[in-house]
Amino acid sequence: MRGIVLAGGSGTRLRPLTTIHSKHLLPVYDKPMIHYPLAVLMLTGIREILLISNPEHLGTYRTLLGDGRDIGISLSYAAQERPGGLAEALLLGRDFIADQPICLILGDNIFYGHRLPGLLREEAKRLDGCTLFGYRVSDPRRYGVATVNAAGDVLSLEEKPERPRSNLAVTGLYMYGKGVADRAARLTPSARGELEITDLNLQYVHERRARLVDLGRGTAWFDAGTHDSLLEAAMFVQALEKRQGIRISCIEEVAYRMGYIDRDQLHLLGKELSIGSEYGRYIADVADECTVPADFS
Ligand code: G1P
Repeated sequence: MRGIVLAGGSGTRLRPLTTIHSKHLLPVYDKPMIHYPLAVLMLTGIREILLISNPEHLGTYRTLLGDGRDIGISLSYAAQERPGGLAEALLLGRDFIADQPICLILGDNIFYGHRLPGLLREEAKRLDGCTLFGYRVSDPRRYGVATVNAAGDVLSLEEKPERPRSNLAVTGLYMYGKGVADRAARLTPSARGELEITDLNLQYVHERRARLVDLGRGTAWFDAGTHDSLLEAAMFVQALEKRQGIRISCIEEVAYRMGYIDRDQLHLLGKELSIGSEYGRYIADVADECTVPADFS
C-alpha cells in the first residue's frame, strides 16, 4: 500500500496564520502539523508516500522533509495548482498510485490511540473497495457523516448535512483498493467546482463496497483546521507528552520503532536536532533507550 498526504488548500479559516504559511506546517505543540499524518502512514507500514501541496509551499516541504531517506521512507511531491477538492489528490497522484492500493490522509488530521497502528495494519490487509474511519463527535454538521449497519457496511454518507442522520463523522483517513484513480477521473466537479471525496466514497457505498471502522472511545481525532481546534490539538499533545514523558507522532522515533532506520541513524538524527532542543534530546534518548518503554505500537 502507498500513501498520499494532502496538504493543499488555502487555509482560509486559519487566516492570518495562513496568509503566508502553509497550514500544514503550523506548529502543533512541538512539531509541524504535517508530522502527524506522516506518522500515521508510517505506523500503518507505508513507506512510499506522496505529499501534495500548493506550488508556492512545495519548496518548504522539500527543505523540511527531503526525499524521506533520513527516516527510511521514500517521499515524493506533487503540486495542486488550485484547490480542486480532496478527490483531486487521487488524480494528481495517478502515476504514483500506479496499480497499488492507497491510503489517503488529510494533512490537518491528527490521530492518536494505542490501538490505532494495529487497527490500521489490519484494515490495510483486509481492504476491499474502500474503508473509512469514523469518529463520534458532538458537532457532526462540520463533517462527512455516515450511517452504518452492525457489520460496518456504510449505508449512507452525506457531506456536512444540515440534519445529520448520526453523529458518526468521517475522518480524513481513507483506504482504497486498486483502480481508485480511474474512479476519481470519472467524478464531475460539485457546485463549488471541486472533486468531492464524499462523491468518490459514495460510488463505493452504492456498490456496497464501503466499510467504516469506528475508531471508538480510546482514540483521539482532531482536525486542526480552525484556531480553536488547532489549539485544542496542541494542548492535547502537550498534556499527553508532559505526563508520560513520551512524544507522539515523532516521525524519527516511529521510523526507528518500525525498523525503517537503525539505532545509529536515529542517534544521528537526534544529534542533529538536539543542540538546544528537547525534541532532539528525546530522540537521542530513545536511541539510548533510556526513557521510552518498550511497548510502543
Ligand atoms: C473534509 C471532508 C469531510 C471530512 C473532513 C475530515 O472536510 O470533506 O467529509 O469529514 O474533511 O477532516 P473539510 O475539513 O475539508 O471541510
